[in-house]
Amino acid sequence: MQVNFIPATVAFIQEKFAQEGSGHDWAHIERVWQMARRLAEEESGADLQVTELAALLHDIADWKFHGGDYEAGPRAAGDWLRSQGADEALIERVQVIIREVSFKGLGVETPVTSVEAALVQDADRLDAIGAIGIARAFAYGGHKGRPLHDPAVPPVSHESFASYQKSTAPTLNHFYEKLLHLKDRLHTPAARRVAEGRHRFMEQFVDQFLAEWEGMR
Ligand code: ADP
Ligand code: NI
Repeated sequence: MQVNFIPATVAFIQEKFAQEGSGHDWAHIERVWQMARRLAEEESGADLQVTELAALLHDIADWKFHGGDYEAGPRAAGDWLRSQGADEALIERVQVIIREVSFKGLGVETPVTSVEAALVQDADRLDAIGAIGIARAFAYGGHKGRPLHDPAVPPVSHESFASYQKSTAPTLNHFYEKLLHLKDRLHTPAARRVAEGRHRFMEQFVDQFLAEWEGMR
């Protein structure tokens, strides 16, 4: 019999993320989960339970908040699923997706090895762009004590994960270093369609921001 682990995982993650202020709150997880489900409607081969579990668990222990330990997330997700009686094959599939979803710098390829990973990565990236993506970037920057913008600090293309991790750049740089590139890094046609409007909105935002900064508007 196939056990449905989704309801218990929703309750577990909702409780765990209730007090998060860094852009990784339950609302982010819920949007990624719902977006992954929506994108999955167009990918007939996708295993919905695997997609949903990986979406719900993808940020369970983000490396950025665990001393750069990339295995903290997969391990925590594995512990949770094992505690629920999931079999090792399912656990392994979810863990592989969690390893694959994260953005690691503009110059670093982040290939996916399953349609389910493509769906979760796309859903997570869609949540980093558009109006909500803009809000999350500045929330993250504030959390880290970063300035909004500093024209003296040019954006760079991080060619390694280590350099991306160490970046302390102003938040506006994050648009050039990551957010404005995400639409070209999506896998599924459904995600690319959603990204169009969100991308355009971000471009307008950056234009307006810079014009105001220079006293032009
Ligand atoms: P995701 O949840 O997409 O894996 P991250 O964990 O990398 O993304 O980041 C969470 C949120 O914080 C995203 O909206 C991302 O754009 C934002 N963020 C990450 N790094 C930075 C940064 N250096 N400056 C501003 N925002 C950032
Ligand atoms: Ni995320």
